[in-house]
This record gives sequence, C-alpha cells and structure tokens, in this order.
Amino acid sequence: MALTSETFTYVATLVRQRSAIMLEPGKEYLVESRLLPLAREAGVAGVDDYVRSVRRTSRPQDLELMVEALTTNETSWFRDSTPFTALTADIVPELLASRGALLRLRVWSAACSTGQEPYSIAMTLAEDVRCRGTQVEIVATDLSDQVLGRAKEGLYSQLEVNRGLPAPMLVRHFSREGAGWRISRELRAKISFERHNLLHAPPAGPRFDLVFLRNVLIYFDQPTKQAILRRVQQHMAPDGFLVLGAAETTVGLDDTWERVAISRGSVYRPRQGAR
Ligand SMILES: C[S@@+](CC[C@H](N)C(=O)[O-])C[C@H]1O[C@@H](n2cnc3c(N)ncnc32)[C@H](O)[C@@H]1O
Repeated sequence: MALTSETFTYVATLVRQRSAIMLEPGKEYLVESRLLPLAREAGVAGVDDYVRSVRRTSRPQDLELMVEALTTNETSWFRDSTPFTALTADIVPELLASRGALLRLRVWSAACSTGQEPYSIAMTLAEDVRCRGTQVEIVATDLSDQVLGRAKEGLYSQLEVNRGLPAPMLVRHFSREGAGWRISRELRAKISFERHNLLHAPPAGPRFDLVFLRNVLIYFDQPTKQAILRRVQQHMAPDGFLVLGAAETTVGLDDTWERVAISRGSVYRPRQGAR
C-alpha cells in the first residue's frame, strides 16, 4: 500500500529540518523503501503504522534513525579520480609554492560516508614524496552515526574494495582480516572521525587547508548550499582549496570563490579580498 500524504509530509519535514535533505513530492517510494526495514525491525506491519508510532512516542533515537535512513551514502575509493589526481598535480604544488614548505596539512572530509573518501585522501598524501615531512591531519565527518561507525572501523568487504581501489594501494595499505580488508593503523591514525551536521559550524580547530565537500550539496536547496559554502570558507586558510563533487559548483551560488581549472575539472579557492 502506498504511503499516506500525511506520513510523507511528516517525514519530509523532519528530514529537511534535521539534515536539509529535500524530499520533493514524488519521493514517496524512497521514503517507503528506506523506512520499511525500520518498521520490520520494530515489528510493525507497514511504514504508515511505524511512523505513527514514532510520532506518538517521539523518542529522539527513533527520529534520528528515520533521518539517517533517508541519507544516501553512496561512495567509492578515489571516486571520480580527478580530485585525487589534482591533489598531487595541482593542490600540493600550489600550497608548496605559496608557503615554501608544507609542515602541516589539515584536511576536512565533510560528509565522508563509510570512509572511502578520507582514506583515499590519506593514501594519496602518504604516497606523495613531497609530503614525507608533512604532518597530515584529516577530520572526517558525517551526519549519520551508522556510516561513521563503519568508517572508524576501517574494515571493508572484497566487494567494497573492488569499487575503485587500485590493487597496489590495497597491497600497500590494507591487511587481510577474515573475508575482508582492514586499513593500516598508520593511515587510520591520521584521521579523526566525528559526527557533524553541515547545518552547524564546522569542526573546531585551526583553519582547514583543504576541504572535500563532495556529492552532498546536491541534496540541499540553494539558500542552504550558500550558507554552508559561507561557513566553510570562514574556516579555511586563505590559500586553501575546496573540492566539490563532479555535479557541484560554487558558480552562480557564491562569487566569493574562485574557480581554478584543473586537468579534467575544477577546484575552488577563496577569492582574495572577497570577504
Ligand atoms: C552521497 S554521500 C557522499 C560521500 C562522499 N563525500 C563521496 O563523495 O563519495 C553523502 C553523505 O552526506 C551525508 N549527509 C547528508 N546530509 C548531511 C548533513 N546535513 N550534514 C552532514 N552530512 C550529511 C550523508 O549521511 C552521506 O553519507
């Protein structure tokens, strides 16, 4: 049976308020398919009944589980490859040129899902000889506790490593554990995983030299994207770099970013004197 419009409106409003993810009319099938496993686990026959019971009890953990179930956590190793090529071909050389030396590199992987993105960044920097003496610190965050739990564990199935991880990287940075592969302790130690909602101020600490904010702005409306881009810039080094997803841009949204063309795409830098 299809969802009632009351259930859909309630869930869409809750998800929008808590994560900014937009669930437009027509996404009823998505809500139904994502919430059905929660309903089954709770021993309730259908999604309408499940949502009614969650509304009645209003337990914070149930509301959070519903929001998390509506996030899309699709990711892979070295996703779209271009940003990782840009890291060694453009970003590290530019930072070295402007600073003379890279003693420290602070990176934020915002919306990191199950960890493939921050670990891909860590592997890329670990294999760059120019970063041998650099203290690399990666802060990886996501709204969803479930994906963060997996990211922190750093244990991936064969099917998961098959999605984009080059064999030499697998050999160098992972060890076999049961039927899966565990990321090395050295790489794991470079990353701190934290729960963070992009609707709030960025993680505390010194400014970021590099921010990966990929494949998440697409879920938000324009004012939300603008507010997030503004906050990110306030927490970035003036000569830092922002990397967005292949389908995302600051152009037409926020002109305080300068688009820098790289071999097969773009990265962004705070426009000097814009803010
Ligand atoms: C499609 S994944 C992108 C993962 C990775 N950045 C990549 O490009 O492969 C989007 C992630 O954004 C997270 N997300 C959605 N809304 C968020 C919010 N308001 N704050 C923080 N993370 C959010 C989701 O939990 C999900 O893991």
